[in-house]
Amino acid sequence: MKHKVLALLRSQSKQLISGEEISSHLGVSRTAIWKHIKSLREEGYQIDSQPGAGYLLTGVPDLLLPEEFLEQFSGSIFTQNIEHHRTLASTNTRAKALADEGAPEGTLVIAENQTAGRGRLGRNWFSPDGGAGGIYASIVLRPPLRPEQASGLTLLAAVALAQGVRQVTGLKAGIKWPNDLLLEGRKFCGILTEMKGELDRVHYLAIGTGINVNTEIHLFPPELQETATSLQGVLGRKVSRIELLVAYLAALEKLYDIYLEYGLPPILRAWKEWNITLGQYLDVISGDKLYSGRAVDIDKTGALIIQSPDGKQKIFHSGEVTLKKT
Ligand code: BTN
Repeated sequence: MKHKVLALLRSQSKQLISGEEISSHLGVSRTAIWKHIKSLREEGYQIDSQPGAGYLLTGVPDLLLPEEFLEQFSGSIFTQNIEHHRTLASTNTRAKALADEGAPEGTLVIAENQTAGRGRLGRNWFSPDGGAGGIYASIVLRPPLRPEQASGLTLLAAVALAQGVRQVTGLKAGIKWPNDLLLEGRKFCGILTEMKGELDRVHYLAIGTGINVNTEIHLFPPELQETATSLQGVLGRKVSRIELLVAYLAALEKLYDIYLEYGLPPILRAWKEWNITLGQYLDVISGDKLYSGRAVDIDKTGALIIQSPDGKQKIFHSGEVTLKKT
């Protein structure tokens, strides 16, 4: 009902709309309408009211509220079960807890700020400015896969993000294997995919995405100053987080449908178009070992094939890649 009240207010952007009109249109009491208006104001919507005349929407909060994108995104699997939090330890932790309780495929958890955001390989993921500039979102998927196939979906998410960023900003990000997104050689987006399953089948995946959108670069901790960036840092202007989230989720859904129908090959072809890893000299840290060589290809599971100077090839299913400057 709150969404409907908001939709009505939006439809009358210049003219006041009376409480009576809203209540007769939606078939609920004026007291109920007033409660929804109060709740919208608490979320940060600016709604002017003039006694006896009605309400006027004068401002929307810069938040990733479902109300802000549900309409333009109706029918998507990502609109069926959305949680939005002002602050959360980690959207991935929350998405996994929901999935453990049986949350359906497409469940989406969004946070404006994370207090214990997690990165790959046990690292932290910072939201330096209290979150205001980033997107922190996790989705639950339940694909019919064996665990060893799951890494393909993390490549899929990287392609969806690259497509979303291109659509909204025009920027062509590069994907560093497996799924870091870089601009001007610096990382602005990371993906953490976690899984629960048995040896024979995946129960669910929680795919978490952290994007530095309007994050001020000087707020990154010293160890990230040289290696991290944000879309605002590259473009010199703010980017709509809502537009980017919607573009990412729409691309993700399309690619996921393709994946379910045709398997990984078309996803790997798309990944290769965006990748900046193949052909490069690089170091890979896998476990506690360091390997150096040239990335020659990815195999049909998405694993990275490295050729060392003596011509031997080694396949990596996971690891941390550092591209060497040429
Ligand atoms: C990485 O590059 O190391 C992956 C970073 C993933 C960060 C995102 S932010 C939303 C989701 N929740 C988390 O705790 N982590 C992921």
